[in-house]
Amino acid sequence: PVAWLNGEFLPQSEARISPMDRGFLFADGIYEVVPVFAGKPLAIEQHLIRLTQSLESIQHPNPLSIEQWTTTIEQLIEKNGGGDIGVYIQVTRGSYQKRTHQFPPLENTQPTVFMTASSLPAFSAEAIGNGFHAITSDDFRWGRCDIKSVALLGHCMLRQQSFEQDAIETLLEKDGWLTEGTSSNVFLIKDGRLLTPKADLRILNGITRQLVIDLARQADIPVEIRDIHIEALFKADEVFITSSTKDLLPIVKIDNKTVANGQPGPIWEKLTQTYQQLKS
Ligand code: PDD
Repeated sequence: PVAWLNGEFLPQSEARISPMDRGFLFADGIYEVVPVFAGKPLAIEQHLIRLTQSLESIQHPNPLSIEQWTTTIEQLIEKNGGGDIGVYIQVTRGSYQKRTHQFPPLENTQPTVFMTASSLPAFSAEAIGNGFHAITSDDFRWGRCDIKSVALLGHCMLRQQSFEQDAIETLLEKDGWLTEGTSSNVFLIKDGRLLTPKADLRILNGITRQLVIDLARQADIPVEIRDIHIEALFKADEVFITSSTKDLLPIVKIDNKTVANGQPGPIWEKLTQTYQQLKS
């Protein structure tokens, strides 16, 4: 793929940064993933707002204006041939001559700004129609999961657990309460109502999550944004996960227990259809 690093387009394989980069040393940086369908980014404004919020949370100025981000992303999409892709964006606090935990003075550092493109995972209609398996695990991640930080070791370790069990996602539980997946948000349907955990410090407020909530409200599906006990997953009529790269995927088995009748449900079906329309 063609990447973009600190103002220049170049082949991804030629992009280089310093080992003193604070992203490398401390995971001192944030990222975004913008989904692109048929060459058109979906909800780019919301992704750029969240990027700005992540930067504010780590006391870092935004290196580009919204217009600059938008144009650069559009150019990157074009240089990668458009189609269905994910645009990955990362900003770190850059490199500094010394490894210091406190942030180095702004005037002495240049952020590292990186973008690249990758193909989106493709799920066959058959696989989606059968639904996916998930497992649950203790959410041992840090206390600021609202920041889209590149510090993802916890996420990777937890995702590895479901990977090893041939499951699509690890659904996380903090003190008995459902939080999210390792790279997705979680929704339940119970008695015709759409339930999802509230977007506090324990989860990333997914853009797909926000779009799905809006679509549900437009379709007059009652929405409850609240604490959800992990056990509620096993009593739900439907469960699905959302993310920019996976859309809405139905979960039909959790910890080897079947969700409802073990089939993707009608409300997921309706929401996923209206979500597909946003792409065109
Ligand atoms: N992950 N929660 C976590 C922890 C995530 O990492 C993601 C996305 C989501 C869903 O957010 P959105 O709908 O905005 O994609 C929720 C991206 C895709 C990733 O890490 O690749």
